[in-house]
Amino acid sequence: MNKIERGSFGSKLGAILAAAGSAVGLGNVWRFPYETGNYGGAAFILIYLGCVFALGLPIMIAEFVIGRSSHANIDGAFQKLAPGTQWKWIGRMGVLTAFFILSFYSVVAGWTLEYVYEAICNGFAGRNPEEFVVSFEAFSTNPWRPLIWLVLFLLATHFIIARGVEKGIEYFSKLMMPVLFILILVLVGCSVSLPGASAGIEFLLKPDFSKVDSNVFLAALGQAFFSLSLGMGCLCTYASYFNKDTNLVRSAVSVGLIDTFIAILAGFIIFPAAFSVGIEPDAGPSLIFITLPNVFQQAFVGFPWLAYIFSLLFYLLLAVAALTSTISLHEVATAYIYEEFKMPRKRAALIVTCMCIVIGVLCSLSLGVGKQISLFGLPLFDLLDFITAKLFMPIGGALMAVFVGWYLDKRIVWEQLTNDGKLKVASYKAIIFILRYIAPAAILVIFINELGII
Ligand code: PFF
Repeated sequence: MNKIERGSFGSKLGAILAAAGSAVGLGNVWRFPYETGNYGGAAFILIYLGCVFALGLPIMIAEFVIGRSSHANIDGAFQKLAPGTQWKWIGRMGVLTAFFILSFYSVVAGWTLEYVYEAICNGFAGRNPEEFVVSFEAFSTNPWRPLIWLVLFLLATHFIIARGVEKGIEYFSKLMMPVLFILILVLVGCSVSLPGASAGIEFLLKPDFSKVDSNVFLAALGQAFFSLSLGMGCLCTYASYFNKDTNLVRSAVSVGLIDTFIAILAGFIIFPAAFSVGIEPDAGPSLIFITLPNVFQQAFVGFPWLAYIFSLLFYLLLAVAALTSTISLHEVATAYIYEEFKMPRKRAALIVTCMCIVIGVLCSLSLGVGKQISLFGLPLFDLLDFITAKLFMPIGGALMAVFVGWYLDKRIVWEQLTNDGKLKVASYKAIIFILRYIAPAAILVIFINELGII
């Protein structure tokens, strides 16, 4: 075995905040409200909660078991726990997934920086709805401007990763998660006090089950996996830095609760504000880049300084949330390269950053001037989104559940969950049952549905 010096999280709180930082991201503040809007509000949220707690948490626990019992990157973890077998390909698929997600996710993360910049320069003031559409399209298809923000975002991620596990990931997660939380609470306060906000609050709290069909279940399941960062070894890698006293079940529950709470709070920012100016909740992916700046302008007519602060805080919040997720994606690939190819951490991080800049630039261009950068009829950006979120993540999640539920020695699982018998885990049998039967079957259904087979 190689003798590479491994980092570790210095505290249990640091470990939980880092994992929560990975989970909380554009998926919560952008995708969750948009999916909630599309699938009818409160009923979707209830089903989503079921998916997070009944399926997502057991898989997160499985990832924690793999990571902490192996103390290795995601490829090394499978090689240690299942030597001489093909299970290592789950890890390698996870590394590839991390590269791909990091590349296209950083494009959107870069857009949030442009919007922070616009907000600082008071660029949204006085624009009408059409101007917001035109300016977003002009920006996102501009050949160079999104690239600058993309590179800046990846360099910020690189800087944190290069500082290491405790001084980089843990320090910044502890700093940024409370900032994020405070920003969200301030924005919720502003949003729910807007005139007419109560229709948005009702939309979030009053379930309308007449809209529930099988698509809603599948959409909620898919959102749960993306939002909790499951299925590609991200949480395994973080768990490999947990210390032996970390309570895995309790940590998973904390991460699940924080992630869900923030997603719901994001709903409380967006819907009351949208309803207050009469914008439909199912405006789709453009909700936060086109609709919201417009909402801020209209909602605070007569109070331009409030519109200024609200816009600035919102885009800062998005950028911070995205950053704590990009560092977790970067770490999956960095840990793999520096441990498996035995090179200094900083050099490994540089390789990951450079590769992601190249793929990210191609993704960004594929949305505008480089439309020809496409494969199978999809621009590179959409292709990477599709193969990661809709293929690799569900397959990875199901295989990890099968690995821990069926293959891994149950003594290892029990030792990890109880910290060598020190903790009582009443849910042990239920967790194993879900990992063996329910989770693989449920993911298979999402997977088949997303490919359009049923
Ligand atoms: N969970 C993140 C979000 O909700 O934005 C996205 C993500 C981060 C997915 C890290 C996967 C991952 F490994």
